[in-house]
Amino acid sequence: MTHTSPGPDPAAAAEWDERYAGPGRIWSGEPNGALVAEVEGLAPTTVLDVGCGEGADAVWLAARGWRVSALDVSRVALERAAGHARGAGVEVEWHHAGLLDTDLPPAGFGLVSAQYPALRRPAPGDVAAERALLAAVAVGGTLLVVHHADVDTEHARTAGFDPADYVVPDDVARLLDDDWVVEVHEKRPRRVASGAGSHHTTDAVLRARRLR
Ligand SMILES: C[S@@+](CC[C@H](N)C(=O)[O-])C[C@H]1O[C@@H](n2cnc3c(N)ncnc32)[C@H](O)[C@@H]1O
Repeated sequence: MTHTSPGPDPAAAAEWDERYAGPGRIWSGEPNGALVAEVEGLAPTTVLDVGCGEGADAVWLAARGWRVSALDVSRVALERAAGHARGAGVEVEWHHAGLLDTDLPPAGFGLVSAQYPALRRPAPGDVAAERALLAAVAVGGTLLVVHHADVDTEHARTAGFDPADYVVPDDVARLLDDDWVVEVHEKRPRRVASGAGSHHTTDAVLRARRLR
């Protein structure tokens, strides 16, 4: 991937580095179930993993022959992800960047995957992140966006974060025009045995293919 990056937004990087600061990984270490279900049947080409975290998806994709670029705002997470890839004997291009802080190659990826990516809107109503996801998908390629569908909004606001500030699959779906075919747009159960987020039991899944 050729892109330049001034680096991620320092506040976002610091917030996520702090979340990853403990000694062990925070997620399960397994690829996300929705990714496995939606991608297993696709022929591997190039993929961009947006908000790759500790890299379990990127490693799984690379092991299946995908040429993987993965980006995240957290350097701590990326170091852990790189260690996971080394242990698995696979190559991944890691990028310390936020989705909107980097120049992605237009239509550059056969698959763009964003799994619970925590993409905060720059401002209310700003759809730059959604547009960046769409613009990165090659003609003929696939966009896969997955998020939790069972977030308790009131509880989240009490804890200091507003889910409305973050991009979810429905937000991306609203921007799809005739250049796209929606292949999956649904809520479905999810089961994760361990790690932060394992209390979430419902996914929102959007898979769309770019026609032109
Ligand atoms: C809930 S975690 C999900 C990680 C991974 N996709 C997974 O499923 O295990 C959200 C990730 O998004 C990253 N992130 C937050 N803001 C981002 C941004 N603007 N661009 C890219 N990644 C971002 C965080 O650092 C974090 O690793």
